[in-house]
Amino acid sequence: MIKKKILFVCLGNICRSPSAEAVFRGLVEKKGEGHHFVIDSAGTSDWHRGEPADKRMQKHAVKRGYNLTSISRPFETGDFDKFDWIVAMDHENLDELKRKAGNKSDSKKLFLMTGFSKKYNYDNVPDPYFGGDEGFELVLDLLEDAGEGLYHFVNSG
Ligand code: 4NP
Repeated sequence: MIKKKILFVCLGNICRSPSAEAVFRGLVEKKGEGHHFVIDSAGTSDWHRGEPADKRMQKHAVKRGYNLTSISRPFETGDFDKFDWIVAMDHENLDELKRKAGNKSDSKKLFLMTGFSKKYNYDNVPDPYFGGDEGFELVLDLLEDAGEGLYHFVNSG
């Protein structure tokens, strides 16, 4: 069976993309399709390389039943070959990935997470790092919503 391979990308890989990874994994597992997917996350920076997800993000995620298990790693150009869909959390991440893309087939794998939103009308998943509790909750709200849209998108091709 050919698996669908999805990589979520933010800046630090300790808040938004580890959450996107866990929320999307939860979503496909709930549908009984976890085995159809390879799901991972990375950062456009290496500032937090080797660190677990931010404690505040973990706390908010656990309340909704998501365990953030990923360890921060920087995005590598080799990820373009390893994944089918590379989903950025904001425009800065997306622009950085576009710069790293080596050819058209790489660029075609790039998407913005909020492009899959259904209920919400945000043009990015706002960085919660320097803010309060509500920023972390908003990240999870946006990811749960856009995750559904992304699921339908990757199953429609
Ligand atoms: P993330 O959040 O990109 O969602 O993981 C951030 C984490 C760390 C920093 C910025 C954003 N930082 O400036 O260290």
